Amino acid sequence: MSSLKEKLASKLGPMREKVGSIVKGHGDLKISDVSIAQAYGGMRGVKCMVWETSALDPMEGIRFRGFTIPELQEKLPKAPGGEEPIPEGIFYLLLTGDLPTEDDVKEITAEWQKRGALPKYLIDVLKAIPKDTHPMTQFSLGILTLQKDSIYAQKYREGMSKMEYWDPMYEDVMNLLAKLPALASYIYRRSYKKDKHIPADPKLDWGGNFAKMIGVEDETFKELMRLYLVIHSDHEGGNVSAHTTHLVGSALSDAYYCLSAGMNGLAGPLHGLANQEVLRWVMDVMEKLGGVPTKEQLKDFCWETLNSGQVIPGYGHAVLRKTDPRYTAQREFALKHMPDDEIFQVVSALYEVVPPILEEQGKAKNPWPNVDAHSGCLLYHYGVKEYDFYTVFFGASRAIGVLSQLIWSRALGLSIERPKSVTTEWIAGQIK
Ligand SMILES: CC(C)(COP(=O)(O)OP(=O)(O)OC[C@H]1O[C@@H](n2cnc3c(N)ncnc32)[C@H](O)[C@@H]1OP(=O)(O)O)[C@@H](O)C(=O)NCCC(=O)NCCS
Repeated sequence: MSSLKEKLASKLGPMREKVGSIVKGHGDLKISDVSIAQAYGGMRGVKCMVWETSALDPMEGIRFRGFTIPELQEKLPKAPGGEEPIPEGIFYLLLTGDLPTEDDVKEITAEWQKRGALPKYLIDVLKAIPKDTHPMTQFSLGILTLQKDSIYAQKYREGMSKMEYWDPMYEDVMNLLAKLPALASYIYRRSYKKDKHIPADPKLDWGGNFAKMIGVEDETFKELMRLYLVIHSDHEGGNVSAHTTHLVGSALSDAYYCLSAGMNGLAGPLHGLANQEVLRWVMDVMEKLGGVPTKEQLKDFCWETLNSGQVIPGYGHAVLRKTDPRYTAQREFALKHMPDDEIFQVVSALYEVVPPILEEQGKAKNPWPNVDAHSGCLLYHYGVKEYDFYTVFFGASRAIGVLSQLIWSRALGLSIERPKSVTTEWIAGQIK
């Protein structure tokens, strides 16, 4: 057994006991009420699911197992010569709740290298669909195709005790995460780089290898990928990709079914697809005005967007009420590595222009930028110019968080989800 799996196994008993005694001793304690507005309005703020790996504060932003992004940048191990935390480290932290050592992350890198090759049947499936199929469709389909090899599904068929569910789930998660950079890169190179592929480098970490297989040689892009893949990994449980993964998992579907479903949710323009929409929108204004626009021109463009009934992509959030710290981390990366980039200048100018406009319009509860307002300009700078691909990077990262929680959900025996729906007629009948 790997030391990660052993460590996880050692945490299961105490956590099961803790949850068991909370439910037994205090199961009737109310933690939420639901209003009619919440029932129609996307259940915003209703506390009705458990998610161990991260928690989101509206003012402060995300904490991963209690750690902020700057704390992760300081405390998680780095690649040799690198300054950014590596994704293997956040996976260890999310899964175990403890900070990893250098050896811990090396072991995960080696494990993922070993499990990372794509089977031929997967390539055959991907080859059968048109190259201009949206990369998120290809990504979700690729993940689903791998379901054939689910160890969890096989063990379930053979008959296994509930107490064992977490073990084959862990194995599936390791196999799946290991393959995501190669799967994503295969889709990228097939769709945009004449089907010429780049093999994995056994000396590189997960994020570094991802950057290499995409085909960008710049070492700073490897650092960007590491940071990007860490900060997009988890955003508590209620967002669409996390909740979908969780919901599908609650039916005891395996990790492949769950993640594929989660990715379909991430592909929506109000969720992960916003990153491609931001860059398309920024490039539109730059094209229309022939370069970097003035702030006055940007203001006009924002109002044009709003007055035509569209949202300003990358701004607003269902939970956050301040600038997203994931935006800030990316902004700091840009200030350090590419301060003169023209698209970054537009993104920076928008940071000044958009919030007062959204406040003046008076609809959005949060006028500040979210993670998606920034990521595209960084990827574009290093040569990944195909916006439609951007959400796949987000998806590979999000897999780390939602799959870590999925292992815990099976370990804790969380129930099949079945909230009660009601009709409008029923609601009308409640109003006295
Ligand atoms: C993220 C988002 C979906 C959150 O939705 P929400 O929780 O319903 O947000 P709010 O409660 O603030 O929405 C209230 C109103 O403001 C509007 N609004 C919110 N963000 C807006 C934005 N960026 N531009 C224009 N209008 C916006 C909503 O569309 C809604 O309008 P309506 O009353 O006509 O339906 C929303 O802010 C949005 O669409 N942002 C742009 C897309 C984006 O960046 N998505 C990535 C999120 S990480």
